[in-house]
Amino acid sequence: MSEEIEKKKPAPAKPKAKGKKDEAQDTLWSRRDFFSLAGWGAFMASLGLSSLYFLRLLFPRVLFEPSPKFKAGNPEDYTVGEVSTKWVGDQRVWVVRDEEKLYAILARCTHLGCTPLWLKTEGKYKCPCHGSGFTMDGMNFEGPAPRPLERLKVEIGPDGQIVIDKSKKFLFEKGEWGKPGSFLRA
Ligand code: FES
Repeated sequence: MSEEIEKKKPAPAKPKAKGKKDEAQDTLWSRRDFFSLAGWGAFMASLGLSSLYFLRLLFPRVLFEPSPKFKAGNPEDYTVGEVSTKWVGDQRVWVVRDEEKLYAILARCTHLGCTPLWLKTEGKYKCPCHGSGFTMDGMNFEGPAPRPLERLKVEIGPDGQIVIDKSKKFLFEKGEWGKPGSFLRA
């Protein structure tokens, strides 16, 4: 009986051999798929780039420069006849106090900009780069430095502390060392 049933079962249909027309259609579809995918890819890439550009506009590159002004304590903190090197590391500034006044000198050699050292025993600033020397008040006297050191604006802030402003310079060669703001009366 089962043999009869098996005999009656229709033989599985042979897969139709693809005609030239079908093959052409397959190729056409795969090409269409490829171009469609490529199109989407390009679209998404351009969308991504536009979004990045837009985000970049939202967060502009801003350089936060440190303030040129800083508080340097009270005038009484400085000893008469001495050069304070307290601010050289952080601010590149010496504070000098003599009998009559207090002033700030920028610790930058006027030759090529190195930071000189204050040599207390010799009573001078000495540049380690090419040997320029400056007196305690900043006058150049040896080596290639062409002019004296620069002084900076000093004033007393509302809280009684000294405020040094590195954005305002006073140059000896322009006759500015006696100008208001270039020193504080002791
Ligand atoms: Fe100071 Fe040259 S940079 S002597």
